[in-house]
Amino acid sequence: MKKKNAILLLITSLIVGLLAACGSGASTSGDGEGKKVLVMGTSADFPPFETLDTNGEIVGFDIDLAKHIANELGYEIEIKDMSFDGLIGALQTKRIDFVASGMSATEKRKESVDFSIEYHRSGEMFVSLKDSGINSIEDLDGKKIGVQLGTIQEEGANKIAEQMELEVKTLNKVPDLIQELKSKRVDAVYLDKTVAEGYIKELDLAGFNDPNESTPGMAIAFPKGSEITESFNKVIKEMQENGELEKLEKKWLETE
Ligand code: ARG
Repeated sequence: MKKKNAILLLITSLIVGLLAACGSGASTSGDGEGKKVLVMGTSADFPPFETLDTNGEIVGFDIDLAKHIANELGYEIEIKDMSFDGLIGALQTKRIDFVASGMSATEKRKESVDFSIEYHRSGEMFVSLKDSGINSIEDLDGKKIGVQLGTIQEEGANKIAEQMELEVKTLNKVPDLIQELKSKRVDAVYLDKTVAEGYIKELDLAGFNDPNESTPGMAIAFPKGSEITESFNKVIKEMQENGELEKLEKKWLETE
């Protein structure tokens, strides 16, 4: 008798688990109150665009931007924190509905995903410790550079490494790269300028601009053919015109 109950319980929990697994997929599922939920992917390691606050909450420019857009369009959003190099794959397999993660809208990525219009433009920077003597790309010869896996900086660093003796160290999370720099396990870290400037100021580091001015702007990414891309574009345009985007820039991006 006891055994039978246990088996019954096992079967029930298996079924419940299965149902839950089915329901947790991405894509505009209702939440019971009529509001549809969009699942957003991000890599919350990139202040001020997305980062964890002291309560472990994901906050930042991209979060506010996405929430504003979703709100205008009558959606709720659920945020999934993932590693940056997994975001494109998650879009392609539709595990998430969109990505807001400081992602640069490169031609290469456009082969696999769709992008919104650009909402932010930032160059790139090399960050190093003060007095490191690294003030130009040439100074990187014989050095070690840290980059985040799957980023345009990883690609850029590998290109530089073809020209000189540069060791490229690839990590998953930006704060870990900064840690490597502080403990001198790398000589420089290659980052989007807006993010680099934040760390330079906060941790009293040094840095110089990447002279290659070809970085594409940041945009929201969608699975190819997604139906929400156009409505997102419409709201971003509105936000550019009515000052809402500027408000977010003032809140998150301006370092005095
Ligand atoms: N803009 C760079 C790229 O698209 C880096 C973005 C990294 N974003 C992040 N949330 N860690 O490759």
